Amino acid sequence: MGFSLFSQPKSLIGLDIGSGAIKLVQLSKGNSGYKLKRFGVRTLESELIVDGTIMDAERVISVIKDLLDELSVKEKEAAFSVSGHSVIVKKIQLPVMTEEELDESIKWEAEQYIPFDINDVNIDFHILEEEDGEARDQMDVLLVAVKKEKLTEYTSVVNESGLSSAVVDVDAFTLENMFGINYEVMEGEIIALVDIGASVMNINIIKGGTFAFTRDISIGGNRYTETIQREFNVNYEQAEKAKRGEDVEEIDPEMLSNIVNLLNDKIVSEVVRSFDYFKTTSNNEEIDRILLSGGGAKVANLVSCLEEKSGVPVEMVNPFKRIEIPETQFDLDFIREMAPLASVGVGLALREVGDR
Ligand SMILES: Nc1ncnc2c1ncn2[C@@H]1O[C@H](COP(=O)(O)OP(=O)(O)OP(=O)(O)O)[C@@H](O)[C@H]1O
Ligand SMILES: [Mg+2]
Repeated sequence: MGFSLFSQPKSLIGLDIGSGAIKLVQLSKGNSGYKLKRFGVRTLESELIVDGTIMDAERVISVIKDLLDELSVKEKEAAFSVSGHSVIVKKIQLPVMTEEELDESIKWEAEQYIPFDINDVNIDFHILEEEDGEARDQMDVLLVAVKKEKLTEYTSVVNESGLSSAVVDVDAFTLENMFGINYEVMEGEIIALVDIGASVMNINIIKGGTFAFTRDISIGGNRYTETIQREFNVNYEQAEKAKRGEDVEEIDPEMLSNIVNLLNDKIVSEVVRSFDYFKTTSNNEEIDRILLSGGGAKVANLVSCLEEKSGVPVEMVNPFKRIEIPETQFDLDFIREMAPLASVGVGLALREVGDR
Protein backbone atom coordinates (compact mmCIF):
# COMPACT_ATOMS: atom_id res chain seq x y z
CA MET A 1 0.00 0.00 0.00
CA GLY A 2 1.13 3.50 -0.75
CA PHE A 3 1.99 5.91 1.98
CA SER A 4 1.06 9.55 1.83
CA LEU A 5 2.09 12.03 4.43
CA PHE A 6 -0.46 14.64 3.45
CA SER A 7 -3.82 13.66 2.18
CA GLN A 8 -4.63 15.24 -1.18
CA PRO A 9 -7.14 18.05 -1.01
CA LYS A 10 -10.36 16.74 -2.45
CA SER A 11 -11.11 18.06 -5.89
CA LEU A 12 -14.61 19.11 -6.81
CA ILE A 13 -16.90 18.42 -9.70
CA GLY A 14 -16.89 21.53 -11.87
CA LEU A 15 -20.46 22.04 -13.00
CA ASP A 16 -20.97 24.91 -15.43
CA ILE A 17 -24.70 25.47 -15.75
CA GLY A 18 -24.73 27.62 -18.89
CA SER A 19 -27.84 28.77 -20.68
CA GLY A 20 -26.70 27.01 -23.86
CA ALA A 21 -25.05 23.94 -22.42
CA ILE A 22 -24.17 22.16 -19.21
CA LYS A 23 -20.53 21.29 -18.91
CA LEU A 24 -19.05 18.94 -16.34
CA VAL A 25 -15.31 18.78 -15.66
CA GLN A 26 -13.46 16.70 -13.10
CA LEU A 27 -9.72 16.77 -12.61
CA SER A 28 -7.34 14.75 -10.53
CA LYS A 29 -4.15 16.14 -9.15
CA GLY A 30 -0.99 14.13 -9.45
CA ASN A 31 2.68 14.84 -8.90
CA SER A 32 3.11 16.19 -12.38
CA GLY A 33 0.06 18.44 -12.39
CA TYR A 34 -3.57 18.09 -13.31
CA LYS A 35 -5.11 15.22 -15.21
CA LEU A 36 -8.55 15.10 -16.79
CA LYS A 37 -10.78 12.60 -15.04
CA ARG A 38 -14.20 13.28 -16.54
CA PHE A 39 -15.61 15.67 -19.10
CA GLY A 40 -19.05 15.94 -20.62
CA VAL A 41 -21.26 18.47 -22.38
CA ARG A 42 -25.02 18.51 -22.84
CA THR A 43 -26.64 21.23 -24.91
CA LEU A 44 -29.82 22.73 -23.51
CA GLU A 45 -32.90 23.69 -25.46
CA SER A 46 -33.09 27.46 -25.55
CA GLU A 47 -36.12 27.87 -23.28
CA LEU A 48 -34.76 26.02 -20.22
CA ILE A 49 -32.47 28.80 -19.02
CA VAL A 50 -33.20 32.27 -20.37
CA ASP A 51 -30.74 35.09 -19.70
CA GLY A 52 -29.36 33.23 -16.72
CA THR A 53 -32.77 32.51 -15.16
CA ILE A 54 -33.66 28.85 -14.78
CA MET A 55 -37.13 28.66 -16.34
CA ASP A 56 -37.60 24.91 -16.24
CA ALA A 57 -35.79 23.51 -13.21
CA GLU A 58 -37.18 19.98 -13.69
CA ARG A 59 -35.67 19.57 -17.13
CA VAL A 60 -32.37 21.19 -16.18
CA ILE A 61 -32.11 18.76 -13.25
CA SER A 62 -32.82 15.80 -15.51
CA VAL A 63 -30.11 16.92 -17.95
CA ILE A 64 -27.60 17.17 -15.09
CA LYS A 65 -28.62 13.74 -13.80
CA ASP A 66 -28.19 12.24 -17.26
CA LEU A 67 -24.75 13.75 -17.51
CA LEU A 68 -23.76 12.39 -14.07
CA ASP A 69 -25.01 8.96 -15.14
CA GLU A 70 -23.32 9.01 -18.51
CA LEU A 71 -19.99 9.93 -16.93
CA SER A 72 -20.49 7.57 -13.94
CA VAL A 73 -19.74 10.34 -11.47
CA LYS A 74 -19.58 8.96 -7.94
CA GLU A 75 -18.50 12.06 -6.07
CA LYS A 76 -21.08 14.45 -4.69
CA GLU A 77 -19.33 17.70 -3.99
CA ALA A 78 -19.62 20.27 -6.74
CA ALA A 79 -18.55 23.80 -7.55
CA PHE A 80 -20.81 25.93 -9.70
CA SER A 81 -20.87 29.56 -10.71
CA VAL A 82 -23.23 32.43 -11.41
CA SER A 83 -22.93 35.33 -13.85
CA GLY A 84 -24.95 38.12 -15.40
CA HIS A 85 -27.26 40.77 -13.89
CA SER A 86 -27.41 39.27 -10.41
CA VAL A 87 -23.68 39.41 -9.88
CA ILE A 88 -21.63 42.51 -9.09
CA VAL A 89 -17.84 42.29 -9.12
CA LYS A 90 -16.02 45.55 -8.50
CA LYS A 91 -12.63 46.74 -7.45
CA ILE A 92 -13.16 49.46 -4.86
CA GLN A 93 -10.85 51.60 -2.75
CA LEU A 94 -11.19 51.73 1.01
CA PRO A 95 -9.13 53.08 3.88
CA VAL A 96 -6.56 50.54 5.00
CA MET A 97 -7.96 48.17 7.61
CA THR A 98 -7.57 44.56 8.66
CA GLU A 99 -9.56 41.72 7.19
CA GLU A 100 -11.48 41.39 10.47
CA GLU A 101 -12.36 45.08 10.50
CA LEU A 102 -13.50 44.93 6.91
CA ASP A 103 -15.55 41.85 7.66
CA GLU A 104 -17.46 43.94 10.21
CA SER A 105 -17.98 46.96 7.98
CA ILE A 106 -18.19 45.54 4.45
CA LYS A 107 -21.96 45.70 4.37
CA TRP A 108 -21.92 49.47 4.96
CA GLU A 109 -18.97 50.09 2.69
CA ALA A 110 -20.48 48.03 -0.12
CA GLU A 111 -23.91 49.60 -0.09
CA GLN A 112 -23.11 52.47 -2.43
CA TYR A 113 -21.63 50.14 -5.07
CA ILE A 114 -24.52 47.73 -5.25
CA PRO A 115 -27.65 48.53 -7.24
CA PHE A 116 -29.76 46.13 -5.15
CA ASP A 117 -31.01 46.21 -1.59
CA ILE A 118 -28.04 45.25 0.54
CA ASN A 119 -30.20 42.73 2.41
CA ASP A 120 -30.98 40.90 -0.84
CA VAL A 121 -27.36 40.05 -1.60
CA ASN A 122 -24.59 37.87 -0.25
CA ILE A 123 -21.33 39.77 -0.03
CA ASP A 124 -17.80 38.54 -0.21
CA PHE A 125 -14.55 40.46 -0.52
CA HIS A 126 -10.87 40.01 -1.07
CA ILE A 127 -8.16 42.52 -0.18
CA LEU A 128 -5.88 42.92 -3.19
CA GLU A 129 -2.13 43.07 -2.69
CA GLU A 130 -0.36 46.19 -3.88
CA GLU A 131 2.16 45.41 -6.60
CA ASP A 132 4.94 47.61 -5.20
CA GLY A 133 4.32 46.77 -1.53
CA GLU A 134 4.46 50.47 -0.57
CA ALA A 135 2.54 51.65 2.49
CA ARG A 136 -0.49 53.86 1.81
CA ASP A 137 -3.81 55.01 3.29
CA GLN A 138 -6.06 53.33 0.76
CA MET A 139 -6.30 49.72 -0.27
CA ASP A 140 -7.90 47.97 -3.23
CA VAL A 141 -10.66 45.58 -2.35
CA LEU A 142 -12.38 43.19 -4.68
CA LEU A 143 -16.06 43.28 -3.84
CA VAL A 144 -18.42 40.51 -4.90
CA ALA A 145 -22.16 40.61 -4.38
CA VAL A 146 -24.60 38.00 -5.59
CA LYS A 147 -28.36 38.19 -5.29
CA LYS A 148 -29.58 35.68 -2.75
CA GLU A 149 -32.44 34.56 -4.96
CA LYS A 150 -29.96 33.69 -7.74
CA LEU A 151 -27.92 31.60 -5.31
CA THR A 152 -31.02 29.81 -4.08
CA GLU A 153 -32.20 29.14 -7.63
CA TYR A 154 -28.91 27.53 -8.70
CA THR A 155 -28.18 25.81 -5.38
CA SER A 156 -31.53 24.05 -5.38
CA VAL A 157 -31.02 22.76 -8.93
CA VAL A 158 -27.56 21.46 -7.98
CA ASN A 159 -28.90 19.83 -4.82
CA GLU A 160 -31.90 18.28 -6.51
CA SER A 161 -29.53 16.77 -9.06
CA GLY A 162 -28.04 14.80 -6.17
CA LEU A 163 -24.98 16.97 -5.64
CA SER A 164 -23.93 19.13 -2.76
CA SER A 165 -22.88 22.66 -3.55
CA ALA A 166 -19.51 22.92 -1.87
CA VAL A 167 -18.26 26.08 -3.58
CA VAL A 168 -20.06 28.90 -5.37
CA ASP A 169 -17.99 30.98 -7.74
CA VAL A 170 -18.53 33.68 -10.33
CA ASP A 171 -17.63 33.15 -13.99
CA ALA A 172 -15.00 35.91 -13.99
CA PHE A 173 -12.92 34.19 -11.29
CA THR A 174 -13.27 30.73 -12.78
CA LEU A 175 -11.77 32.10 -16.00
CA GLU A 176 -8.89 33.63 -14.04
CA ASN A 177 -8.19 30.33 -12.30
CA MET A 178 -8.34 28.41 -15.58
CA PHE A 179 -5.93 30.92 -17.08
CA GLY A 180 -3.61 30.78 -14.08
CA ILE A 181 -2.76 27.09 -14.41
CA ASN A 182 -2.45 27.11 -18.21
CA TYR A 183 -0.72 30.32 -19.22
CA GLU A 184 2.35 32.34 -18.31
CA VAL A 185 2.06 36.06 -17.70
CA MET A 186 4.81 38.61 -17.99
CA GLU A 187 5.13 41.24 -15.31
CA GLY A 188 2.60 44.01 -15.88
CA GLU A 189 1.15 42.26 -18.90
CA ILE A 190 -2.52 43.09 -19.46
CA ILE A 191 -4.66 40.26 -20.72
CA ALA A 192 -8.34 40.27 -21.56
CA LEU A 193 -10.17 36.99 -21.07
CA VAL A 194 -13.35 37.19 -23.10
CA ASP A 195 -15.89 34.37 -22.77
CA ILE A 196 -18.81 34.46 -25.17
CA GLY A 197 -21.56 32.11 -24.07
CA ALA A 198 -25.08 31.64 -25.36
CA SER A 199 -26.62 34.61 -23.54
CA VAL A 200 -23.83 36.33 -21.62
CA MET A 201 -20.44 37.66 -22.64
CA ASN A 202 -17.95 37.97 -19.79
CA ILE A 203 -15.05 40.39 -20.21
CA ASN A 204 -12.33 40.00 -17.67
CA ILE A 205 -9.10 42.00 -17.61
CA ILE A 206 -6.13 40.90 -15.58
CA LYS A 207 -2.90 42.77 -15.08
CA GLY A 208 0.27 40.89 -14.21
CA GLY A 209 -1.89 37.96 -13.16
CA THR A 210 -4.28 39.81 -10.83
CA PHE A 211 -7.80 41.08 -11.27
CA ALA A 212 -8.26 44.53 -12.79
CA PHE A 213 -11.73 44.75 -14.33
CA THR A 214 -14.73 42.66 -15.21
CA ARG A 215 -18.03 43.21 -16.95
CA ASP A 216 -20.88 40.96 -18.07
CA ILE A 217 -22.83 41.95 -21.16
CA SER A 218 -26.11 40.30 -22.09
CA ILE A 219 -25.27 39.19 -25.59
CA GLY A 220 -23.94 35.91 -26.95
CA GLY A 221 -24.45 33.08 -29.39
CA ASN A 222 -28.23 33.12 -29.00
CA ARG A 223 -28.38 36.46 -30.76
CA TYR A 224 -27.06 34.83 -33.95
CA THR A 225 -29.47 31.92 -33.75
CA GLU A 226 -32.48 34.17 -33.13
CA THR A 227 -31.56 36.48 -36.00
CA ILE A 228 -31.00 33.60 -38.41
CA GLN A 229 -34.37 32.10 -37.40
CA ARG A 230 -36.13 35.37 -38.06
CA GLU A 231 -34.34 36.34 -41.27
CA PHE A 232 -34.68 32.97 -42.97
CA ASN A 233 -37.87 31.84 -41.31
CA VAL A 234 -36.30 28.57 -40.13
CA ASN A 235 -36.58 26.73 -36.81
CA TYR A 236 -34.11 26.77 -33.94
CA GLU A 237 -32.29 23.57 -34.96
CA GLN A 238 -31.81 24.76 -38.52
CA ALA A 239 -30.55 28.14 -37.35
CA GLU A 240 -28.08 26.51 -34.94
CA LYS A 241 -26.78 24.28 -37.72
CA ALA A 242 -26.34 27.20 -40.09
CA LYS A 243 -24.52 29.18 -37.41
CA ARG A 244 -22.09 26.30 -36.97
CA GLY A 245 -21.33 26.35 -40.69
CA GLU A 246 -23.40 23.32 -41.73
CA ASP A 247 -25.46 23.44 -44.94
CA VAL A 248 -29.15 24.16 -44.50
CA GLU A 249 -31.32 24.04 -47.60
CA GLU A 250 -33.39 27.13 -46.85
CA ILE A 251 -30.38 29.30 -46.15
CA ASP A 252 -28.36 31.20 -48.71
CA PRO A 253 -24.69 31.08 -47.61
CA GLU A 254 -23.90 34.57 -48.80
CA MET A 255 -26.82 36.18 -46.99
CA LEU A 256 -25.95 34.13 -43.92
CA SER A 257 -22.40 35.33 -43.90
CA ASN A 258 -23.57 38.96 -44.15
CA ILE A 259 -25.80 38.49 -41.13
CA VAL A 260 -23.10 36.72 -39.15
CA ASN A 261 -20.61 39.47 -39.95
CA LEU A 262 -23.03 42.17 -38.82
CA LEU A 263 -23.52 40.42 -35.51
CA ASN A 264 -19.77 39.88 -35.17
CA ASP A 265 -19.40 43.65 -35.54
CA LYS A 266 -21.95 44.19 -32.82
CA ILE A 267 -20.29 41.81 -30.36
CA VAL A 268 -16.86 43.20 -31.14
CA SER A 269 -18.00 46.80 -30.65
CA GLU A 270 -19.27 45.85 -27.17
CA VAL A 271 -15.88 44.34 -26.35
CA VAL A 272 -14.04 47.39 -27.64
CA ARG A 273 -16.36 49.68 -25.67
CA SER A 274 -15.54 47.84 -22.46
CA PHE A 275 -11.83 48.05 -23.25
CA ASP A 276 -12.19 51.80 -23.76
CA TYR A 277 -13.94 52.08 -20.43
CA PHE A 278 -11.19 50.09 -18.76
CA LYS A 279 -8.59 52.39 -20.31
CA THR A 280 -10.28 55.56 -19.03
CA THR A 281 -10.31 54.13 -15.52
CA SER A 282 -6.73 52.87 -15.58
CA ASN A 283 -4.40 55.58 -16.93
CA ASN A 284 -4.89 54.52 -20.53
CA GLU A 285 -3.26 51.15 -20.17
CA GLU A 286 -3.11 49.08 -23.34
CA ILE A 287 -4.34 45.52 -23.52
CA ASP A 288 -1.57 43.22 -24.71
CA ARG A 289 -3.59 40.21 -25.82
CA ILE A 290 -7.05 38.74 -25.87
CA LEU A 291 -7.84 35.15 -25.00
CA LEU A 292 -11.24 34.10 -26.30
CA SER A 293 -13.42 31.31 -24.98
CA GLY A 294 -17.03 30.16 -24.90
CA GLY A 295 -19.03 28.40 -27.58
CA GLY A 296 -20.12 31.74 -28.98
CA ALA A 297 -16.51 32.50 -29.88
CA LYS A 298 -16.56 29.67 -32.44
CA VAL A 299 -18.68 31.65 -34.90
CA ALA A 300 -17.01 32.14 -38.29
CA ASN A 301 -14.74 35.19 -38.61
CA LEU A 302 -15.24 36.42 -35.05
CA VAL A 303 -11.58 36.05 -34.14
CA SER A 304 -10.39 38.03 -37.15
CA CYS A 305 -13.08 40.67 -36.68
CA LEU A 306 -12.08 41.18 -33.05
CA GLU A 307 -8.41 41.29 -33.91
CA GLU A 308 -8.98 43.86 -36.62
CA LYS A 309 -11.28 46.19 -34.68
CA SER A 310 -9.48 46.07 -31.34
CA GLY A 311 -5.96 46.10 -32.76
CA VAL A 312 -5.03 43.49 -30.17
CA PRO A 313 -3.80 39.95 -30.97
CA VAL A 314 -6.49 37.33 -30.32
CA GLU A 315 -6.03 33.69 -29.46
CA MET A 316 -8.58 30.96 -28.66
CA VAL A 317 -8.11 29.70 -25.12
CA ASN A 318 -7.20 26.11 -24.56
CA PRO A 319 -8.37 25.37 -20.99
CA PHE A 320 -6.71 21.93 -21.22
CA LYS A 321 -3.34 23.33 -22.32
CA ARG A 322 -1.44 22.06 -19.27
CA ILE A 323 -3.87 19.35 -18.30
CA GLU A 324 -2.91 15.78 -19.09
CA ILE A 325 -5.58 14.00 -21.13
CA PRO A 326 -5.35 10.20 -21.10
CA GLU A 327 -5.82 9.24 -24.77
CA THR A 328 -7.31 5.88 -23.92
CA GLN A 329 -10.18 7.45 -22.00
CA PHE A 330 -11.05 10.46 -24.09
CA ASP A 331 -11.85 11.25 -27.69
CA LEU A 332 -9.31 13.95 -28.44
CA ASP A 333 -11.30 15.35 -31.38
CA PHE A 334 -14.28 15.85 -29.11
CA ILE A 335 -12.09 17.54 -26.49
CA ARG A 336 -10.57 19.83 -29.11
CA GLU A 337 -13.98 20.79 -30.41
CA MET A 338 -15.46 21.42 -26.98
CA ALA A 339 -12.41 23.05 -25.40
CA PRO A 340 -13.68 26.65 -25.83
CA LEU A 341 -16.87 25.72 -23.95
CA ALA A 342 -14.91 24.18 -21.08
CA SER A 343 -13.10 27.26 -19.71
CA VAL A 344 -15.50 27.98 -16.85
CA GLY A 345 -15.88 24.26 -16.06
CA VAL A 346 -12.11 23.80 -15.79
CA GLY A 347 -11.89 26.86 -13.53
CA LEU A 348 -14.58 25.35 -11.32
CA ALA A 349 -12.93 21.93 -11.22
CA LEU A 350 -9.77 23.60 -9.88
CA ARG A 351 -11.60 24.64 -6.73
CA GLU A 352 -11.13 22.52 -3.65
CA VAL A 353 -13.29 21.56 -0.71
CA GLY A 354 -12.98 24.24 1.93
CA ASP A 355 -12.26 27.05 -0.55
CA ARG A 356 -14.29 30.06 0.18
N1 LIG B 1 -19.24 25.45 -33.70
C1 LIG B 1 -19.96 26.48 -33.25
N2 LIG B 1 -20.13 27.58 -34.01
C2 LIG B 1 -20.86 28.62 -33.56
N3 LIG B 1 -21.48 28.65 -32.36
C3 LIG B 1 -21.34 27.58 -31.57
C4 LIG B 1 -20.59 26.44 -31.95
N4 LIG B 1 -20.64 25.53 -30.96
C5 LIG B 1 -21.40 26.08 -29.99
N5 LIG B 1 -21.83 27.31 -30.35
C6 LIG B 1 -22.67 28.22 -29.57
O1 LIG B 1 -22.07 28.43 -28.32
C7 LIG B 1 -23.07 28.71 -27.34
C8 LIG B 1 -22.85 27.83 -26.15
O2 LIG B 1 -21.57 28.12 -25.62
P1 LIG B 1 -21.28 28.00 -24.09
O3 LIG B 1 -21.49 26.61 -23.66
O4 LIG B 1 -19.96 28.61 -23.85
O5 LIG B 1 -22.44 28.94 -23.50
P2 LIG B 1 -23.12 28.84 -22.05
O6 LIG B 1 -22.05 28.81 -21.04
O7 LIG B 1 -24.07 27.71 -22.06
O8 LIG B 1 -23.95 30.20 -22.03
P3 LIG B 1 -23.94 31.39 -20.95
O9 LIG B 1 -22.56 31.46 -20.40
O10 LIG B 1 -24.30 32.60 -21.74
O11 LIG B 1 -24.97 31.03 -19.96
C9 LIG B 1 -24.41 28.48 -27.99
O12 LIG B 1 -24.97 29.72 -28.38
C10 LIG B 1 -24.03 27.65 -29.24
O13 LIG B 1 -24.92 27.85 -30.30
MG1 LIG C 1 -20.98 30.22 -19.98
